[in-house]
Amino acid sequence: MGNGVYNLDPSLDATRDHVLYDDGNHKVIYLGTQGMGKGDVEVNSYLIIDNNRGLLVDPGGYKIFAKVISNISKYLDPKNIDYIYMCHQDPDVAGSIPLWRKISNAKIVVHWLWVRFLPHFGFEDVDSVAHPLPDEGERLNLGSAILEFIPAHFLHSPGHFSIYDRESKFLFTGDIGFAPLDKPVLVMESLSACMDGMKQIHERLMASSKALKIWVDRVRGYEVEAVLPQHGAIIPKGEISRFFNFLEGLKCGVDLM
Ligand SMILES: [Fe+2]
Ligand SMILES: [Fe+2]
Repeated sequence: MGNGVYNLDPSLDATRDHVLYDDGNHKVIYLGTQGMGKGDVEVNSYLIIDNNRGLLVDPGGYKIFAKVISNISKYLDPKNIDYIYMCHQDPDVAGSIPLWRKISNAKIVVHWLWVRFLPHFGFEDVDSVAHPLPDEGERLNLGSAILEFIPAHFLHSPGHFSIYDRESKFLFTGDIGFAPLDKPVLVMESLSACMDGMKQIHERLMASSKALKIWVDRVRGYEVEAVLPQHGAIIPKGEISRFFNFLEGLKCGVDLM
């Protein structure tokens, strides 16, 4: 475990912001983004803060921008966001990027493949704005912390990463771990209750069992306190090895064609 305080109670209200990890200098915050979907895809946005510098994990689409920025402001001056991370190119990850560009000079951290697509969000200065991640990933300093960008390509995007935060030992997984929910839930009680929906989504969304196995092999080497996906509920430590086993044994994508 990290040296800080964890707050991963299944009773947490997913429509509100919560500090999930705090050691004084290093915090991980859930930004209260569930419950705004009205039938479309719900998202989880997170903020990592270290020594008063921030990295926004998956800012989300246009309609959640106002809530995300207002919740960030409770913890950090948005001017202190050094990085806005897009785990991949989808609109549910990054539809609000044009609004962020109006108020922030943060670098946009994204797989190199998507950098030439960024001008389609409406800004021209892509080379000065983007922080392209190489295929093999990268270690990035935030304040005095190190964040590891772990390749998760073809899960589902061909240029997709997970983040391992060494301080909190949280693994941010983007669309990996996506489980549709009937109602907002921030932390799951058990994987079993989510399994049917999670299986269906992963069968369709993830490219192949080979890609899943490569990723599971990579992340099994890390000590993980919780898996924080971009959709669905956070997977607590006690369910992580079942989650990895599920992914490792799943046929999906091109395997099923
Ligand atoms: Fe996606
Ligand atoms: Fe997504």
